[in-house]
Order: sequence, then structure tokens, then C-alpha cells
Amino acid sequence: TRVYISRDMASVALGSDAVAEAFARAGCEVVRTGSRGLFAIEPLVEVETAEGRIGYGPVGPDDVAAILDGSHGHRLGKVEALPFFAKQQRFTFARCGVADPLDIASYDWRGLKAARAMAPQAVVDAVKASGLRGRGGAGFPTGIKWQTVLATAADEKFIVCNADEGDSGTFADRMLMEGDPFCLIEGMAIAGHAVGAGHGYVYIRSEYPYAIDTMRRAIELAASKIAPFTLEVRVGAGAYVCGEETALLDSIEGKRGQVRAKPPLPAIQGLFGKPTVINNVLSLAAVPFILAEGADAYAAVGFGRSRGTMPVQIAGNVKNGGLFEIGFGITLGELVEEIGGGTASGRPVRAVQVGGPLGAYMPPSMFHLPFDYEAFAAAGGLIGHAGITVFDDSVDMARMARFAMEFCAVESCGKCTPCRIGSTRGVETIDRIIEARALPVAPAEAGAVMGPGGALASYGPGLRRGDGVEAALGSRSPLRLDRARDKDIGLLRDLCDTMKYGSLCALGGFTPYPVLSALDHFPEDFGGAPALHEAAE
Ligand code: NAI
Ligand code: SF4
Repeated sequence: TRVYISRDMASVALGSDAVAEAFARAGCEVVRTGSRGLFAIEPLVEVETAEGRIGYGPVGPDDVAAILDGSHGHRLGKVEALPFFAKQQRFTFARCGVADPLDIASYDWRGLKAARAMAPQAVVDAVKASGLRGRGGAGFPTGIKWQTVLATAADEKFIVCNADEGDSGTFADRMLMEGDPFCLIEGMAIAGHAVGAGHGYVYIRSEYPYAIDTMRRAIELAASKIAPFTLEVRVGAGAYVCGEETALLDSIEGKRGQVRAKPPLPAIQGLFGKPTVINNVLSLAAVPFILAEGADAYAAVGFGRSRGTMPVQIAGNVKNGGLFEIGFGITLGELVEEIGGGTASGRPVRAVQVGGPLGAYMPPSMFHLPFDYEAFAAAGGLIGHAGITVFDDSVDMARMARFAMEFCAVESCGKCTPCRIGSTRGVETIDRIIEARALPVAPAEAGAVMGPGGALASYGPGLRRGDGVEAALGSRSPLRLDRARDKDIGLLRDLCDTMKYGSLCALGGFTPYPVLSALDHFPEDFGGAPALHEAAE
């Protein structure tokens, strides 16, 4: 009997290796694949039968006999027919979880063949016509980036794949590299042909050992298919800022990963000073479909100026965490409530953070938003790399805002002041707000006294009537606390403004998104009155 079991890092973490060994011991032919992308059913086993591949999951190593005789309680039927998969439009992830990632004989290279039959300009035109935009987060049109590189004369050009995937809660780059490495290799070879580059680098974070290994083996296997184009893997040392394109280029050059000022754009003066296409894994992996199926087929799906599909990553406190590839335009609420199935804890969803640790927090009142670059930007958020992290009503949004500032302080490359120093001042300011919020002031017990000059001051349970005006006006006075908190919140907003407009790169520039969105949508967590939409609910 042939069975298919994922060897994706997430599946292995859930125990798929032991399951695979148990099936091998039972005499089955075990094909290790990438993950289908729904972690609630991992470890997943698919058994080849006369009626097709039948899935069981989650399963353990002791379940072999029950699976082979079809009596196991977690029989799922055909995996593609499960609602989580049936609703998807898998353009980029079509092979992921289905095939052995390193089975080169079953990979057809249709996109590369089609591209090489075309002139470079025609390939760039096709990518432009597809409407593909940078999937790393910024959404810059990929075809226009390629056009700039094609139009820049140089003796040498490079293709660089950004596989640093630093955003917490995101895993699509990793899943693609582990589950269908040839797709990325093909996309990079197409880019090489389109712009006239002979060599490429895949820059992968060191936290992804399986992806590094799979990519290295796949590059070796594919060498003759992509020749004369050549590729190599470079491993990053784990700094978040090395996902910023210019810091990444410095890192490949063997320097400390620090952000370069733009211009010059990498497209004109990139790696080793040469014109360089630098794209995210998902952007490059979308290209084979575009060349094989046609730009129109890709552009036919989507919403507004966001064309094609987005591999959305649903994580956090959610029932159906995983990867869900779908055309732009699906609403945030559908993704969280219907596809994600709500929280894993069963409590109400209070907030979702979209776009990684630098993305905005959104309350359920924003769930009508369509997944679209422009719609999210207009609502004060970003799609980023399409990671969605779900939180239930036990979340403390002031602490989440603090986390954003702390993350920025830890990961800052130190080049510019608003990010390097501002983030630390931000942590201190939020700490003061949290501290003030925690002071024991019970309104029922609070009274009021006339202060010097006739000003009215209230006092809390820490004080008694006999304590006098001075004590009542001390730092624990609720009125004083309110004023101090308002001042700190004003400071925090100013600081966010400075970081947003004064930082050189997205790390310092985007940290205000989680902080301001938390302040705007969840003011009660900062000791203020609830936001209007919250109060109305
Ligand atoms: P950006 O807007 O400066 O640039 C976007 C891309 O377009 C860059 O590659 C840039 O070189 C290129 N570009 C701009 N104008 C061009 C032109 N005229 N010709 C050719 N190329 C041109 O944005 P940046 O700073 O590169 O990225 C910020 C984004 O990164 C954010 O939106 C954020 O969501 C995302 N991000 C993603 C992370 C991840 O783990 N995937 C982590 C952190 C941030
Ligand atoms: Fe470095 Fe922060 Fe400035 Fe970016 S914003 S260049 S990470 S100091």
C-alpha cells in the first residue's frame, strides 16, 4: 500500500516522522510530501486506494492497522473535498502536500519552457499583465521591478530570493520551499531569463533547517534543467532586519546586515553593485503559473488592483490554523470566522493582527474589509506577507503594543535614531501607562476634595479623608493619573509619528501600526473609555 505523509517542519513537530516510520515498518510504501497546510489534521496520512487518496488525521504511530483497514475514527475522505481545501484557489501551492518535493521526474517545467521560447521583454510584459505584486509585503508591481533590471545595462545581474520570512505567524515561504522547491527554482530561472541574469541566491533564515536542506538538494537536482542559470543558498544568521532587502544584500556580500539608503534601488545597483531582482519567495513562485497558464488566467482572479491569489497564513488562537491560498477579495471575517473557524479557546475573537508583528490590530468591527492592498491601507493597516494572528478576549492590547515596541528595540539595526532610541522610549512610555492602569482606584470609593486654588481633585481607596489635600493630590490621585496617562498617550502618539516618518526602513517605520491601532481600537486597555464601535456592540 502506498501512503503519503508530510515531512514539512510543522508536521514533523506534530509527530509525522514517527507515523511515517510506523507505516514503513508495516511494509507500506511511504511517500514523504510537503504539507497540505491544515495543521488541525496533522499528522495526516493519505492512503492510495481504488477510489483515490483517502486522508486520515490527526493520527499517531499506533493507528496504522485501523487506517489500513479503513476503520479509523479520523477518516477524512478525499482531502481536496474538505471545505478548507475545496474553497481554495491553489495557483502557487498546487503541488505542495501532494507530491514528493524532490521527485524531479514528475515536475514539468512548463513555465520555464514557455518563458525561454519568448524574448525577455515578452516575459516581463507577461508578468506585468498578470498584475502580480510583491508578496513580501510592499505590493510593488513585480513586472515593473523586472523591467527596471532588464533596462539597466550591466556586465552582470543577479536574482535574489528573499526567504528570510521574519514575520511571526507566517510560514508560507517555508512551506513552499519544503513542499515544492522546484516551483521557486523555476520562478528564479524565469526571472534570470527575463532580465538577463546568470546567477541567483536564495537567502534563507537559519531557523529553517529543513527548507535549507530541501532547497540545496533541489538546486543540485535541477541544475541541468535551469542551466546556464545557476543558483545557490545563503543562510542568514537570524536578524529580522536582514529581511529588509538592502540589509539582506549586505549580508550576502559578507557584511553586517544594515539597511542601505535608497536610492539607488537594488534594481539598478543591488548585489555587489549590480542590477538585482530581489523578490520574496511567493512572488517568484507565482511566476511559473503565469508563464504556463498565461497572464490572463492569473489576472482573472483578484480584487481591484490586487490581482491573482494570496497564500494567507492563519495562526494564533484559531481552530483551523494553516495555509489558505485564495484570490484577493475574500473578507477578513470570512478568513477568521469561516475558514479559521474562530478561536481555538472557544472564546470570542477580540483582535486579529494582519501583516506580522508590524501589522495593525483589527477588531471584529473591521471584519468586512476585503483582503486587498488598497482597502487595508485605507483602513490604517497592511496585508504585508498575509499572516493573520488571532487573539481572543483575554488579550491585553496595551501589552501587545508594548511587545511591538520591544520587538523593534530588540531587532533594530541601530542605524537611525527614531527606531533605535524611540522604540526603547516607547517601551518605557507604555510601561508607565500600564502601571497607572494597574493602580488601585475604585470609583465607588473615590471622593473629591478642593485643592489649592480651588481645583477639584478626586482621591481613591489608597487615601482616607483625613489624609488631607496634599496626599489626595499626590501621584495616586485618579485625576493626576488621568492627566499623566493622557500626557503619556500623547507622547506615545508623537513618538509613533516620528518613527513612522523618520525611520529609514519598515522596521522603525511600521512599528507604529500595531501601537496606534491598539490605542485607537482598544483604548480601554490603556485606561481610557472604550472605542465607539466597541461600546455599540
Ligand atoms: P518599498 O515600498 O520600499 O519597496 C518595495 C519594493 O519595490 C522593493 O524591492 C524596492 O526596491 C522596489 N521598488 C520600489 N520602487 C521601484 C522602482 N521604481 N523600480 C524598481 N523597483 C522598485 O518596501 P520595502 O521596505 O522593501 O518593504 C516593506 C514591506 O516589507 C512592508 O510592507 C512589510 O509588510 C514587509 N515586511 C515583510 C516581512 C516578511 O517577513 N515577509 C518582514 C517585515 C516587513
Ligand atoms: Fe535600522 Fe531601524 Fe533605521 Fe530600519 S528603521 S534602518 S532597522 S534603525
